Amino acid sequence: MKLADLLAMKTRGEKIAVLTCYDASFATLCENAGMDVLLVGDSLGMALQGAKDTLGVTLTDMVYHTRLVSAGAKQCYIVADLPYGSDATPALALNSARALVEVGAHMVKLEGNKTDAVRLLVGNGIPVCAHLGFTPQSVHELGGYKVQGRDAESARKILDDAIALEWAGAAMLVLEMVPAALAARISHETSMMTIGIGAGPSCNGQVLVLHDMLGIYPGKSPRFVRNFMAGADSIQMAVSNYVRAVKNGTFPTAEHSF
Ligand code: KIV
Repeated sequence: MKLADLLAMKTRGEKIAVLTCYDASFATLCENAGMDVLLVGDSLGMALQGAKDTLGVTLTDMVYHTRLVSAGAKQCYIVADLPYGSDATPALALNSARALVEVGAHMVKLEGNKTDAVRLLVGNGIPVCAHLGFTPQSVHELGGYKVQGRDAESARKILDDAIALEWAGAAMLVLEMVPAALAARISHETSMMTIGIGAGPSCNGQVLVLHDMLGIYPGKSPRFVRNFMAGADSIQMAVSNYVRAVKNGTFPTAEHSF
């Protein structure tokens, strides 16, 4: 899978299936299920490390897990998160991104409207995925896990940020916990591949956290999650069902959207 193949999927209207992945075994399993993109997310702080948020995840952690995913995936496109603080300046972002690319990332993801960093990375040949809406590294600033862009002013700000990131050179954009109508508008009005998580069915692709969609966490899961283990005989079948549901548009529905 190459960047051009993914962009062609947006042009054709074919949905892009993305799942977080943190190791070689799951990378191979996801690949066998027909996944397009593996996201080595800093959600590994919660999923693997037992942390309350993503803020303690280090670049060393991300390099380690990106190397594992790369070892298990031969075809999937691999996106790796720049963890908290590793993109505090454009120069720092470039050094951090290079460390991830060296171990197999094809693209790096950064949160917020960091247009200078995006320009520098893209200028140095590193494709960038931006991330707007609820951005987990700003959980304290945002006052908790809340839907973003509900009123006209905050929706306008997210749209403006998306356009600025597109102009800076971002090729992909994760939209997390934003109203479906706003995500639809950004998906239609920008050339970036939009990947939604709690952003409605009109995004160009969907992403979930692996542990959420396998129902590994006890307790109440967020509205945008579907437990694909329910009714599946195996993890392989659950992941294959997720890919199929994203591709045929049966996930997400209005019940997973805001
Ligand atoms: O780290 C992560 O898993 C993410 C997803 C929530 C998109 O950024």
